[in-house]
Amino acid sequence: MTDLADIADVGRDARRGGYSRHGFDRAELELREWFGQEAARRGLDVRTDRNGNLWAWWGEPGPGAVVTGSHLDSVPGGGAFDGPLGVVSALRAVDVLRAKGFRPSRPLAVVVFVEEEGGRFGVACLGSRLMTGAIPAEAACRLTDPDGVTFAEAARRAGVDPGRMGRDDDALATVGRFVELHVEQGRGLAVPVGLASSILAHGRWRFTFTGEGNHAGATLIEDRRDPMLPASRLVLAAREAATGGARATVGRLVPNPGGTNVIASSVDVWLDARAADDRRTREVVDRITAAARSAAADEGCEVRVTEESYGDTVHFDTGLAAEVSAALGGVPALPTGAGHDAGVLAAHVPTAMLFVRNPTGVSHAPEEFAEAEDCAAGVVALATTLEHLAR
Ligand code: GLV
Ligand code: MN
Ligand code: MN
Ligand code: MN
Repeated sequence: MTDLADIADVGRDARRGGYSRHGFDRAELELREWFGQEAARRGLDVRTDRNGNLWAWWGEPGPGAVVTGSHLDSVPGGGAFDGPLGVVSALRAVDVLRAKGFRPSRPLAVVVFVEEEGGRFGVACLGSRLMTGAIPAEAACRLTDPDGVTFAEAARRAGVDPGRMGRDDDALATVGRFVELHVEQGRGLAVPVGLASSILAHGRWRFTFTGEGNHAGATLIEDRRDPMLPASRLVLAAREAATGGARATVGRLVPNPGGTNVIASSVDVWLDARAADDRRTREVVDRITAAARSAAADEGCEVRVTEESYGDTVHFDTGLAAEVSAALGGVPALPTGAGHDAGVLAAHVPTAMLFVRNPTGVSHAPEEFAEAEDCAAGVVALATTLEHLAR
């Protein structure tokens, strides 16, 4: 809690409430700086990888390392815990192990992945996807933020050479096992600490509806081709399609040009859809897409659909989960609807996630919260896990 208080002023969003900290923006760069100092103060060796992810090494970097960490960026108007809790807990876990005189018999590292939320460039887990090759460097570098700044340019300004970005087998080869601690994001955990069992399949789709910009007063209703109409029907279709545990959300809708007395000429709508598996996620998105196409046709509008990112269901390594649970004296495992860098890493190395209880189930909002006692239990659980894996 004191560590989170340390960074409590960084990236506060006065307009939205909470925090807006995005990949390579001023707030995230300040937090990265803070992380570097905290790690150096502990005698850890801090390095930046080819994709801009930060690594703080305890021991010489090498294969088979036990790696833990999370991210420091947030969604727009996000909470204080999603991401930073995993980073500060990792540093504190190192302190706990040091204080008890533990000497790891394999290298141990704390990692900070860049742009996990995709809050600035639209694709979540950008740092871990780049590192593992899940997104090609050219595709990542072309992504733009709402001001038109490319990811490549933002990286360059942060001192990271976009020309060297891409699948980083050297970094990946160092990771023997990965553990991410995270605040739980629903109301799924009744005890202070648990483990993740799986992550829903999920992705992001962009629908661009194009109609005819015109005057709000002078244009007769029957003469309009207003793209806000099919956009609105997409929002309703998303709710209707999300049955049987699936989730579909429109959290961002941008009319162009966006004037009160202007019929929009186009509207961009971003859909976030998630379900238990690939088939059901595709079904949900197909239903919404069909509704969007038919609504666009009814209004004489065009619609273009782009899949911006996608990841299939993640099943965390059951052997590692059993090992960690045993080391912790038995903790519950639960599925989650939230995406994580650990989900990206899980396709490459045995990976586990520790969850800290969320008393209200609120996340991706300023009200996100975890009790100090539960956070402390999380640090102890993470330290115990690292000790077990690195001994
Ligand atoms: C990340 O937190 C996500 O699930 O979108
Ligand atoms: Mn998040
Ligand atoms: Mn997160
Ligand atoms: Mn006028």
